[in-house]
Amino acid sequence: MKELSEKISKIPSSATIEITDKARKMKAEGKDVISLSIGEPDFDTPAHITQACIDALKNGKTHYEASQGLLELRKAISEKLSFENRIPSDPSQIVVACGAKDNIYEAMEACLNPEDEVLILDPSWVSYEPSVRIAGARPVHHSLRAGDFQADDTILEKINKKTKMIVFNTPSNPTGSVMNKASLTLIKDICEDNDILALSDEIYEKLIYENEHISIASLGDMHERTITVNGFSKAYAMTGWRLGYACAPLNITKAMTRVQQHTISHPASFAMWGGLAALKGPQACVEDMRQEFDRRRKFLISELNRAGYETAPAQGAFYAFLKVCGDDMKVCDEWLTKALVATTPGTAFCSPGWVRISYAAGMDTLKEAVRRISETG
Ligand SMILES: Cc1ncc(COP(=O)(O)O)c(C=O)c1O
Repeated sequence: MKELSEKISKIPSSATIEITDKARKMKAEGKDVISLSIGEPDFDTPAHITQACIDALKNGKTHYEASQGLLELRKAISEKLSFENRIPSDPSQIVVACGAKDNIYEAMEACLNPEDEVLILDPSWVSYEPSVRIAGARPVHHSLRAGDFQADDTILEKINKKTKMIVFNTPSNPTGSVMNKASLTLIKDICEDNDILALSDEIYEKLIYENEHISIASLGDMHERTITVNGFSKAYAMTGWRLGYACAPLNITKAMTRVQQHTISHPASFAMWGGLAALKGPQACVEDMRQEFDRRRKFLISELNRAGYETAPAQGAFYAFLKVCGDDMKVCDEWLTKALVATTPGTAFCSPGWVRISYAAGMDTLKEAVRRISETG
């Protein structure tokens, strides 16, 4: 057989999925593994959302839809973005895709050329670099300020004529920190001064405990150069539904839609009706989940600090990010094999020396995990 794609052969598999699969395998072998490597709410999708999807199936919503996504859903997303995020938008600027991950991939394909550089702010989510590479462009990394994980003007050291896009997420996976207005204003100024696009991944927007969520596209004219990505997975516990969306200037949305037309066509029609129910229906379910995550966050962070670990400001998402002594890969391996607790090494997020622990697990599970980790050291 001839060689497979050289480009894809250079892309590693997702570290978070790999570790979670390893933990799953150990569990299947009868080992009592606690999996805290997963980036997925442990709640079920709220019943009214599931019901809307069942109704859609029963009512024959099983056909092809507009490839940009169901118009009713795009209208609801556009209203949400205007009202909650202060991002001026029209349904024509929204693309509904198979999860935020798919939107990010489409945005990269739509915007990037081989000579382009994309600046990724680290610690960064595992799929940003691969999606830049799949689009054929060059990823460049820059670390946010250690400690508070905010942006500072050292970013400028990585900017040049080839820089096409800056990618970041807030609240952050993996750190849990939330970008403040000063950081976002700095990124905005850099983008405007250097004619750069921003890709702002806001998938954890609803899971915030301290600080406030600000969308960079709401600052001045930034909506004219920002791709705002969001979705249903984290806020509404809809990971398996594969439903996300992006809002961007019209020329970018049109290009993303072309990518979508020739790849997935659109997400499952009935799933999009579920998404509509999520946005239009009661929001108490989101607040209930947020409060439960907050309870776990307070417990986990205080236990980790008591055990002597330095942690990143845990202001949002559902992750604790802690500094470890020595090689984070070895620490995680040891915690998995000796303590039977699966966590994710910071190296997976381009931040060696740190470990991410997901608190998307029940309180009793977290207590047991902390006990095991403390015993292993
Ligand atoms: C920062 C970040 N962005 C995007 C995604 C992808 O979300 P989705 O399930 O909507 O594809 C994830 C999922 O883990 C994430 O953590």
